[in-house]
Amino acid sequence: MTFDLELYRRALGSFATGVTIVTTLDEAGNGHGLTVNSFTSVSLDPPLVLWCLGNKSDSYELFSNCANYAINILADQQGDLALRFAGKGKQSLKGDEFSRMQTGSPMLPGMCAVIDTKVVQKVVAGDHLILIGQTQDYWVGHGHGLTYHRGHFGSTTAWFRP
Ligand SMILES: Cc1cc2nc3c(=O)[nH]c(=O)nc-3n(C[C@H](O)[C@H](O)[C@H](O)COP(=O)(O)O)c2cc1C
Repeated sequence: MTFDLELYRRALGSFATGVTIVTTLDEAGNGHGLTVNSFTSVSLDPPLVLWCLGNKSDSYELFSNCANYAINILADQQGDLALRFAGKGKQSLKGDEFSRMQTGSPMLPGMCAVIDTKVVQKVVAGDHLILIGQTQDYWVGHGHGLTYHRGHFGSTTAWFRP
């Protein structure tokens, strides 16, 4: 089979996901964030989650070395925030834009939920680094989630129970 990269990307983009902003602190205590849809839960016992960091990201140095990160799960009205933290270059947070979870990682307001983790394992996989975190703290809110499918943001408003 010939591997058409563009078509392959379209195939992968057909899988609908939620949207998160992964946040962490740098050595000086400043908050940073990156828009990520590769987040997934892995294990309940112990509670583990993961996300994948592209090795060409301007934020690679920061996130590949972080001891803790928080997964901020976006609500459906927060598409603008997703675009901001998908911008080129390291995206920093102002001090008054976040509170801190147990590990110190930034928690953004108005989220569906926030999961605070300690990095326990890192796995190089092709052009990405898988960052596995053990949950230390979490917060759950209300409302509908932001979705991402075939390059478009959407909402979970049309959900139903399987
Ligand atoms: C919906 C969406 C999901 C994304 N998911 C990831 C991801 O899982 N991992 C990742 O490293 N970058 C992801 N990105 C890309 C980053 O947010 C960012 O745009 C990219 O790293 C380019 O900026 P940089 O090179 O300055 O880091 C995603 C972008 C968007 C819009």
